[in-house]
Amino acid sequence: TPRVFSGIQPSGGLTLGNYLGALKRFVDMQNAGTHECIYCMVDLHAITVWQDPAKLTAATREAAAFFIASGIDPERSILFNQSQVSGHAQLGWLFSCVARMGWMGRMTQWKDKAGKNSENASLGLFAYPALMAADILLYHATHVPVGEDQKQHLELTRDIAAKFNHDFGVDFFPITEPVIEGPATRVMSLRDGTKKMSKSDPSDMSRINMGDDADTIAQKFRKARTDPEALPSDYAGLKERPEARNLVDIFAALSGRSTDDVMSEVGGMGWGQFKPMLADLAVDKLSPITGEMNRLMADPAEIDRILGRGAERADAIAAPILARTKEIMGFVASR
Ligand code: TYM
Repeated sequence: TPRVFSGIQPSGGLTLGNYLGALKRFVDMQNAGTHECIYCMVDLHAITVWQDPAKLTAATREAAAFFIASGIDPERSILFNQSQVSGHAQLGWLFSCVARMGWMGRMTQWKDKAGKNSENASLGLFAYPALMAADILLYHATHVPVGEDQKQHLELTRDIAAKFNHDFGVDFFPITEPVIEGPATRVMSLRDGTKKMSKSDPSDMSRINMGDDADTIAQKFRKARTDPEALPSDYAGLKERPEARNLVDIFAALSGRSTDDVMSEVGGMGWGQFKPMLADLAVDKLSPITGEMNRLMADPAEIDRILGRGAERADAIAAPILARTKEIMGFVASR
């Protein structure tokens, strides 16, 4: 069976972008029943920028609660945190010797995050995509559902797999398919339709946070930036209207409908009518998740138990693949 792997950084501040671009689709893939699904809180990735230890612990449990509250069943899927399966760090090192400096230096996320002060960025931030390739290939995952912003990292994962196979004359690591689908692969800021919705935007009004209450959600959509025109009659009419299109995309993703279907209902509406409808829909879909997250987080020992059990199951898949990788590379093993 095809195998899915995806991850999310437990660095605090989960947004509607994470939900629609990632979590909701993870749940759909699990429920389709056609894939074996492995989902990971990538705590080793989070520490590429400074994390307060107590906050990292809390954010890891919060992210796990987000998965479960959104519909991931830790029995059917494997749910764990990266640092508990040592194969990630080990294969990450091996891949940092396969990947080239030039490949890493071309990553737009590196350039954005390190900015002009790259001398002062951590070495891990630069090597980040090699660890991400390791996450995926440690399980021979064939499909990786992500938002649009991860596309370049997944291309690099393919390059690493191909170079490893070529360098060692094997056909061992699969060439992974990115799964970037649906109306919400790039949820945009509510204040600027050209920027991604992100937890690091200084304006809280630019995003919906998982955990925002009903009034806050309604207010954020009411104040969301738009042009003054009413909605056009069809989706093509949104082409040059990024803010308007973003709100329609969010509506479609939340309701699980196609954008064409949504436009046949809301085409011609003014913002005074559409925005409250969108806010109601968002509250309807998000508040049960928030409620369930709060209930789960009240019992951190239970979350830790679930993650520990997930890590054992993940390790059972990873260990033979890592052992074979080391054998291919010529490392002497004990007999
Ligand atoms: P991270 O933690 O930044 O984001 C987690 C997931 O949420 C998606 N996402 C969005 N999708 C649509 N619109 C948005 N505004 C938006 N913001 C975030 C991301 O695309 C991602 O799918 N490098 C990864 C974590 C990672 C990983 C992996 C992913 C590490 N190893 C292996 C897949 C496979 C990251 O930083 O995601």
